Amino acid sequence: MNGGPIGIFDSGVGGLSVWRQVVHCLPSESTFYVADQAHVPYGHRSADEIQSYCLAIADHLVRQGCKAIVVACNTASAVALEPLRDRFPSLPILGLEPAVKPAVQLTRSGVVGVMATPATFQGQLYRATVGRTASAVQVVEQVCTGLADLVEQGDLEGPHCDAVLQGFLAPMLAAGADTIVLGCTHYPFVIEAIRRLVGPSMAVLDPAPAVAKHLSDVLRQADLLAPPGAEAEHRFFTSADPASFDRAVARLVGAQCSSAALMWRSGPELCQR
Ligand code: DGL
Repeated sequence: MNGGPIGIFDSGVGGLSVWRQVVHCLPSESTFYVADQAHVPYGHRSADEIQSYCLAIADHLVRQGCKAIVVACNTASAVALEPLRDRFPSLPILGLEPAVKPAVQLTRSGVVGVMATPATFQGQLYRATVGRTASAVQVVEQVCTGLADLVEQGDLEGPHCDAVLQGFLAPMLAAGADTIVLGCTHYPFVIEAIRRLVGPSMAVLDPAPAVAKHLSDVLRQADLLAPPGAEAEHRFFTSADPASFDRAVARLVGAQCSSAALMWRSGPELCQR
């Protein structure tokens, strides 16, 4: 089991922002990444729909021998983490949630901005975290409709991307935020553009490094770490077009990975090519 891969999934390429931190933090671990691009974006879908996609993906990852799963998607974590843990009670399953707590500890102005999808903001996980940790600060919630699509399309810089980002950043800036939480795993791929637009005094938080560290702790405690020096293998799957996914993997995390993407189909006829 210690040789099994870590399963990582997202609605699309966003989870690669988590994948790259996992690979950096755990270089001996193999990974198995699934992008459900046939259904991206998840953000505006119903909880039932998202749950059924996530359960199908997790079934697939378990059949592939994954020893742990990272739900590298805030939206999927918001609605599917509990059903996933119910279905696989003995498997370590980690989710993502907006890093509100660190933002609350960091802010000096007392105003924190959170960028995420509608489904994430509506989820119990997020509401409970805000209720527990952010009662003393003002939280400005910014739904970023269309931003995950821009990242899927590789539109990561330039005037169009800047204009879209400016529209999302303006309300948080106007409210006096000095800390912004990236509450969707797609958004770290535009973090440079965000930093340029908001200036150096704004803290912009990407939770992926903390998630990778947590995964490493969980695997160590469960005695599931790959032996040091093990040769890692990274496999990438999409439920949509493998050629364009291949290009996206190369563009976004190409420096960390040379493996070719393979195709994976969603639905009852799950298959690998
Ligand atoms: N990457 C996903 C997240 O972290 C969301 C993108 C989508 O709407 O599919 O929330």
